[in-house]
Amino acid sequence: MQRIGVLTSGGDAPGMNAAIRAVVRKAIYHGMEVIGIKRGFNGFIEGDMEPMRLGSVADIIQRGGTILHAARSEQFKTPEGRAKAWENVDRFSLEGLVIIGGNGSFAGASTFHREYGLPVVCVPATIDNDIYGTDYAIGFDTAVNTAVDAINKIRDTATSHERTFIVEVMGRDTGFIAVAAGLAGGAESILIPEQPYDLDEICHKLLRGYRRGKLHSIIVVAEGAGSGLEIGRQIKERTGFDTKVTILGHLQRGGTPTAFDRILASQLGARAVDLLRQGARCKMVGMQAGKIVDLELDEALAKRKTVDLELYRLAEILAI
Ligand code: F6P
Repeated sequence: MQRIGVLTSGGDAPGMNAAIRAVVRKAIYHGMEVIGIKRGFNGFIEGDMEPMRLGSVADIIQRGGTILHAARSEQFKTPEGRAKAWENVDRFSLEGLVIIGGNGSFAGASTFHREYGLPVVCVPATIDNDIYGTDYAIGFDTAVNTAVDAINKIRDTATSHERTFIVEVMGRDTGFIAVAAGLAGGAESILIPEQPYDLDEICHKLLRGYRRGKLHSIIVVAEGAGSGLEIGRQIKERTGFDTKVTILGHLQRGGTPTAFDRILASQLGARAVDLLRQGARCKMVGMQAGKIVDLELDEALAKRKTVDLELYRLAEILAI
C-alpha cells in the first residue's frame, strides 16, 4: 500500500491531533504517502484534500481540536455523496483510509467500504467513550479531567454559599463521563441515561445530608439523562435549597489532551497504519485491558458498549 487518506469526523475530541500525527508519521516511516482530508466526510466529497508531510504534523501533539477540522456530514449519508467521495479516492489514488471519530463516522466508513471496497481502519475518538471494542476512546480521559476540574471549582463556591449544584456533563446517550467525573469529583448523586432515577429519593438524600450537617451537594447529570436546568428547578422546588445549575457543554470537548490521551492516540494511529499495510479490509483499533487490539468494524458497530454499573454503584455507596 502506497497512499492512504486520513480524516477526523463527528464531534472533535482532544487527542485527535496526536492520532493524525501518528498516522502521518508512521506511514511516512514506512515509505507511504498520506493525504489529509479536511472537514471530515464533507471534505472527502468536495475533494478538500492535500498531501501531508512530516512537518504538517509538527507541534500538534499537545493541541486540542483537530488540524484537519471535523464535521457531521449529512451528505455522506446519501449514495450521491459517497459516489462523489469515491471519485476523489480515484483522483488522489488512495488505497486505504483511516477514519478518526465516533460511531456515526464508523457507520459511514463501513457503508463506504461495503459499496466501493476501499480498505478502511477506524480509530475511536469521542469524549462520550461509547464505542464498543475499546475500553477508552481518544478524548474521554481529557474530558473527564476537565469535568473534574470544574467540579472541584464548583465545590469551592458551593461550600462558601451552602448551595446545591447540578453539573450537567456531556453524554448524549451514555453516562460514561458522568460516572467517571461524578466518582472522581465526589458527587452526591449521578444521573445517567442508562439508570432510572427518582427525584424524590434524591431530594430525601439531600435533606438527610443537610440534617447531618452537609453544607453543600453536587449532583452530576449526563445530558442524556435529562435537562440539568429542569432537574435543578425541581430539586429547588422540592427541597427549598438554594440550587444552581452549571452546564459544562463544549468546554469538555476542547483543551490540551492529557498524556493518557496522547499516548493512546499515538498507539491507535500507528496500529491503524500497520493494519492497512497488512491488508486489513474493514477494521477498528482499540484498547482492551491495556493492550492495543483490532476487531472487525462491523462487530463493533453491531454491539453496544455499556457503562460500568459497578463503578456507578460504588460512586453511590461512597456518597452516603
Ligand atoms: O461528540 C459527542 C458529543 O460531545 C456529545 O456528548 C454531545 O451530545 C454532542 O457531541 C454535541 O454535538 P455538537 O457539537 O454537534 O452539538
